[in-house]
Amino acid sequence: MPTKIIIDTDPGQDDAVAILLALASPDEIELLGITAVAGNVPLSRTSTNARKVLELAGRPDIPVHAGCMRPMLRKPRTAEYVHGPTGLNGPDLPEPKMPLGKAHGVDWIIETLMAHPAGTITLCTLGPLTNVGMALVKAPAIAERIGRIVMMAGAYFEVGNVTPAAEFNVYVDPEAADVVMRSGVPITILPLDVTHQVLSTRDRIQKLRMLGNRTGRAVAEMLTFSEAFDLKKYGWTGAPLHDPNVIAWLLAPELYNGREINVSTETVSALTLGMTVADWWGVTDRPKNALFLRDVDAKGFYALLTERLARLP
Ligand code: RIB
Ligand code: CA
Repeated sequence: MPTKIIIDTDPGQDDAVAILLALASPDEIELLGITAVAGNVPLSRTSTNARKVLELAGRPDIPVHAGCMRPMLRKPRTAEYVHGPTGLNGPDLPEPKMPLGKAHGVDWIIETLMAHPAGTITLCTLGPLTNVGMALVKAPAIAERIGRIVMMAGAYFEVGNVTPAAEFNVYVDPEAADVVMRSGVPITILPLDVTHQVLSTRDRIQKLRMLGNRTGRAVAEMLTFSEAFDLKKYGWTGAPLHDPNVIAWLLAPELYNGREINVSTETVSALTLGMTVADWWGVTDRPKNALFLRDVDAKGFYALLTERLARLP
């Protein structure tokens, strides 16, 4: 039986690749729908980009609902400097024909969780946790209905990417991240500690470009655009590929390794706002609220990604 998932996302080229990987794996994953959140670019663009990606994959049947336009408490912070003004620069994808769903994304998450048996839906979050945090605040009863939340979020040994202490998704909405981390829902975290080992080198992008389908060409164009900022910043042989690790963990957890530990979110200090404090050595009695992944077989990840994307149009 495929795992039923909801993807909450702020596309974003890496988000787009994660969505495509999920769509390319129907035997293991049933994508019930996508909720867009403000993050890399404003909500108007993330909700458009999610639909562009679905139409690229020939799946306009999957519903997209727009969620929160801004973080719970703080002003929005975006990342056009990485993703471009549209958030999906690189390929020239047509404006979507499919409409947005009528409901607010937070309400759609709640309704969908309440309409399915408890524990049967996995939430995959690829952006700031505003929608999921707000859903937990609006309808606390969903906490025992969510099977697991698998999130690209946070960093510890690898430190931050948007401040010295914080990773972007958590930094944009630390209060939402705190609500989710404290929710009691089973959580798996794919932090920068993992994603900074997953580098889209020239050779890996070329393999995607040569798949012979429109998906491979579009993904190669996406990653070739979004790599520029990180290549200059880090000087590595490839830019880190973040969000598809969430889906890859669902598909092939054996590619990853980590520990059940406490992960807490800084929401007060101006210096370390959005830091995910991981009690890796168990020096506190804080509850073990997350599977914090730290290692990944990057070769295995790209073999999986390339083989799966070849299945799409
Ligand atoms: O820090 C990386 C995360 O921030 C990724 O999800 C990327 O898409 C951006 O949202
Ligand atoms: Ca993202």
